[in-house]
Amino acid sequence: MIKPIRKAILPVAGLGTRFLPATKAVPKEMLTIVDRPIIQYVVDEARAAGIEHIVFVTGRNKHVIEDHFDIAYELEDTLKSRNKSAALELLEKNRPLPGSTSFTRQQAPLGLGHAIWCARDIIGDEPFAILLPDVIIKSQTSCLKQMVDLYNNEGGNVIAVEEVPEDQTHQYGIVELSDQINSNASRISNMVEKPEPGTAPSNLMITGRYILQPEIFDLLSKQSTGAGGEIQLTDSMLTLMKEQSFSSLTFKGRSYDCGNKAGFLSANIAFGMDDPKLAEELVPFMREMIDQPLAAE
Ligand code: UTP
Repeated sequence: MIKPIRKAILPVAGLGTRFLPATKAVPKEMLTIVDRPIIQYVVDEARAAGIEHIVFVTGRNKHVIEDHFDIAYELEDTLKSRNKSAALELLEKNRPLPGSTSFTRQQAPLGLGHAIWCARDIIGDEPFAILLPDVIIKSQTSCLKQMVDLYNNEGGNVIAVEEVPEDQTHQYGIVELSDQINSNASRISNMVEKPEPGTAPSNLMITGRYILQPEIFDLLSKQSTGAGGEIQLTDSMLTLMKEQSFSSLTFKGRSYDCGNKAGFLSANIAFGMDDPKLAEELVPFMREMIDQPLAAE
């Protein structure tokens, strides 16, 4: 029997060093894309996929994430007394149901695999999703929902993948495929982290969305540190792949890696362009910046 995907882990314990000094006191996940923090986009994607419970794996200086998903009594009281009903509705819409979130601490940033392992007791013995919160995905249908639909037919483990230009494969985790399941999905036979240029087994990169079976926790608990002195999730997934099926899904949509500056700025432009009023101001500005970058100063 295929067990439903009810829970998701969002690991937010990283240091965010690529965004210092912005991330000295503010978590990377709270930087804004247009008018919402990055983490809100990812929580919305999970909820649109039917996720009932979100486990945040946090670290030091991340309490503001917990506050963001809580009631802000004083603010909401003031909004009520000023009849700001639209703003109040927006806050309510963005708030998860009471009791549908958990927060656990990764006491030291020992790697993504270790962060996931820290959520083992809250997840228990059921399959679950992982959403890396620095990647946000612009799509008609929630990327995780597309993955859950594939999982509900195939079971096993599912990894979201996206095409990258051949000359960039050495920057990413890349999958090797075997049998095709349908036009967007295949079985995965191997995964390679940052393959040497010209040696990648495909042009499909791992995008930061996973559905995994709970047996991964046992493997993570036995795993020693790998690349960069960290406990890597990929190493345990490769071991699990010897016993369980892994499927790739080339989702419909586009990812933005907000963990790096170019991806973060691109996401702001892409999501900003969705608002016709903003687009009206942004388009002439971007034209000006391209044609005469210095004149815009
Ligand atoms: P990154 O590799 O982007 O690391 O982690 P980082 O610390 O967030 O950022 P930089 O590289 O220093 O700028 C990918 C995801 O895994 C989480 C991060 O929070 C991020 O969502 N992570 C990483 C943890 O939760 N714990 C870790 O020990 C490492």
